[in-house]
Amino acid sequence: MTLPSPPMSLLAELTHRCPLSCPYCSNPLELERKAAELDTAGWRSVLEQAAELGVLQVHFSGGEPMARPDLVELVALARDLNLYSNLITSGVLLDEAKLEALDKAGLDHIQLSFQDVTEAGAERIGGLKGAQARKIEAARLIRASGIPMTLNFVVHRENVARIPEMFALARELGAGRVEIAHTQYYGWGLKNRDALLPSREQLQEATRAVEAERAKGGLSVDYVTPDYHADRPKPCMGGWGQRFVNVTPSGRVLPCHAAEIIPDVAFPNVQDGTLSDIWNCSPLFNMFRGTDWMPEPCRSCERKEQDWGGCRCQALALTGNAANTDPVCSLSPFHDRVEKAVEEASEKPELLYRRF
Ligand code: SF4
Ligand code: FES
Repeated sequence: MTLPSPPMSLLAELTHRCPLSCPYCSNPLELERKAAELDTAGWRSVLEQAAELGVLQVHFSGGEPMARPDLVELVALARDLNLYSNLITSGVLLDEAKLEALDKAGLDHIQLSFQDVTEAGAERIGGLKGAQARKIEAARLIRASGIPMTLNFVVHRENVARIPEMFALARELGAGRVEIAHTQYYGWGLKNRDALLPSREQLQEATRAVEAERAKGGLSVDYVTPDYHADRPKPCMGGWGQRFVNVTPSGRVLPCHAAEIIPDVAFPNVQDGTLSDIWNCSPLFNMFRGTDWMPEPCRSCERKEQDWGGCRCQALALTGNAANTDPVCSLSPFHDRVEKAVEEASEKPELLYRRF
């Protein structure tokens, strides 16, 4: 049997606990509680197994990974195992002493998330009073520490017009890189889609702002566009079971952060099997790997090894079957569902916040 290539990245969701409650959170609707979380030994074993399997980089994520008191120990272990480490954080729990400890442990990069540039906008989305000032202070501390930093802004209908101010803030804070990521509509984002989805005109304006900033130079800009306005899907996760492995706080091993919505399949757990066996042999990881599972129109499409049929979770959420072509694709027989969602996005936002 030919084994699949090893994953490049591990997304370690250390905890679902978080002081913020963003209505587009990528965590599942069923959040895992503290009592269910892997302990330090459990996470150490995940990192060791990941390195042995061939993983090159680990993204410490959450929830808010800084809520875990063993974060520094895990970062130090990642360094010992030669894993490139990235911390994905809201910054609201960061202070000078914690940053110094992370730096000493060998942390390679920090991705600091912002909900907006205005205090009111940030508090409306994140739901935490005073968060913006704490984030700005966190950015200053990170900048002073010398750890490379990317600022991440998730954009949606309410803040998309402020992209130029987001770039200005990134420059002011000395970030080398900024990511402008349109909301992805799974889980909490899907629940709030009608309130968050930007109009086509807003998207065009956003794209112009990104292009103008890139033309200036000096700031590296990543731009994640919203699927719903595209006519071909993105290669979600670089293909199912091909590049990424995701471990949830309780040790479930998934091909993407949203995969727990896939029906009729067992979700493997690192407490019951090795990461290598799960990656190579589990029914979940093999379900949509490669191209053999594809229906038409993907099966005979020339893009099938570029976008891998798009996103399985989006196909399930919008068509009821994860094995369908992602309906973002204009060749999908369900593409009208995406067009309808764009038309129906409401101008009266009622946000449903992420909560336990
Ligand atoms: Fe991609 Fe399938 Fe659409 Fe072809 S038909 S572009 S493989 S989603
Ligand atoms: Fe699960 Fe795209 S989010 S495959």
